[in-house]
Amino acid sequence: MAAIISSTFLSASLLLLCLLSASRKGCVAFEQPELAAETHHHNLQVSSLLPSSVCNPSKAVDKKSPSLTVIHKHGPCSQLRPNSDAPTHAEILLHDQARVNSIHSRLARTLNNVKETAATRIPAKDGSVVGSGNYIVTVGLGTPKKDLSLIFDTGSDLTWTQCQPCARYCYRQKEPIFNPSQSKSYLNISCSSSICGSLSSATGNPPGCSSSTCVYAIQYGDSSFSVGLFGKERLTLTSTDIFDNFLFGCGENNQGLFGGAAGLLGLGRNKLSFPSQTAQKYNKVFSYCLPSSASSTGYLSFGNSDISNSVKFTPLVTLSGGASFYGVGITGISVGGKRLPISSSVFATAGTIIDSGTVITRLPTTAYSALKTAFRQGMSKYPMGKALSILDTCYDLSSYNSFSIPKISISFSGGVEVEIALAGILYVNSPSQVCLAFAGNNDDSNVGILGNVQQKTLQVVYDGANGRVGFATGGCS
Ligand SMILES: *[C@@H]1O[C@H](CO)[C@@H](O)[C@H](O)[C@H]1NC(C)=O
Repeated sequence: MAAIISSTFLSASLLLLCLLSASRKGCVAFEQPELAAETHHHNLQVSSLLPSSVCNPSKAVDKKSPSLTVIHKHGPCSQLRPNSDAPTHAEILLHDQARVNSIHSRLARTLNNVKETAATRIPAKDGSVVGSGNYIVTVGLGTPKKDLSLIFDTGSDLTWTQCQPCARYCYRQKEPIFNPSQSKSYLNISCSSSICGSLSSATGNPPGCSSSTCVYAIQYGDSSFSVGLFGKERLTLTSTDIFDNFLFGCGENNQGLFGGAAGLLGLGRNKLSFPSQTAQKYNKVFSYCLPSSASSTGYLSFGNSDISNSVKFTPLVTLSGGASFYGVGITGISVGGKRLPISSSVFATAGTIIDSGTVITRLPTTAYSALKTAFRQGMSKYPMGKALSILDTCYDLSSYNSFSIPKISISFSGGVEVEIALAGILYVNSPSQVCLAFAGNNDDSNVGILGNVQQKTLQVVYDGANGRVGFATGGCS
């Protein structure tokens, strides 16, 4: 009898809580505490956080689309350079901040200087920063084709590789440096060609001219750069997908943090980008999956034949002054199954881009602060550890065998909710420094960036033709 009364009383108070609670989700969580604990947390072993030192390539899945294997620049699957050369996590995060600063200044400059630019044509000096946490694919260039490992970058447009005769400087790279004079299909672009002029919008710098050959220059915010001849060449993705006259930069003066990669594959939205140049075949559709760890592999595929049925799409947004970037509309964040109390105007103020080259997601100050508070509450039984560079919410799990963390999901306009994989929540330096892999912008007016850690294991689809970006969970391991 007493039990019945108290359970009725409990139901009544739950109902009251539900009525008072603004979010229905919070209400559901109250009703089913056991279920909530299971479905709203990841439970795992501390030992599973440590990276493997051997490469475990993902099993090849039969793909209909032409597909390239994606590897992390610094992991054991990359043979770009000795592992002893790899940067520390603190260095990676520092370079990541340089990339973010340069994206912010690129967008802010265009916003603030609209009048000035029209009158004086100040070239934007900052391009995107190559940064450190980047992913590599291998493509073939020239006839006969030479394999080259390129960093793929949705935040920039021009594809380039180092070229002989390295008139000024070439940094060390894994493969032999491409030599256009040994290829039957290489052609220079002449200065008088209209396509030469399109370099301005793709690189932020007007073209130069050297003995009537068009010269490009692209400068990245961390003072990396590539300068050289603008040419066209046969680009081979797979034996069936070959593109003649692909416009690219043949870099004879190159410096920076490319970490042994031969150059960059530009996947942005400008007309010189790879998706634009191959639009006839792939209709500006590509997708990738970034592996959960640097000791595994993912894929980059082109065209729409391998897009998972479970992909959910959100509209692509074009940010003012950021026509090359893929903008998306974040509407909310949930931690442990509960929607954070963040007004959607917080995300709408500056907007968000999705970027393959930024490591850590940057949120508006207000949104990050709400996320951090909720995550810390969910982790309150674990001792905090030292901050790691830009990551201020770290835990010392060295005395635990197993632990549990709240799940995080991000909602996008169009009613799309994407659960971030476990590998997308934590950035692990060591068991005593396991950090929440998100950071806040300094200012709510800076654009938010959905970084590559949070994209891990998702199939991310860029559909430039239909103006949408899609996500499906479980794209790779
Ligand atoms: C391209 O232009 C450069 C510089 O003008 C020249 O040295 C080179 O021979 C040209 N290559 C071809 C294939 O025309």
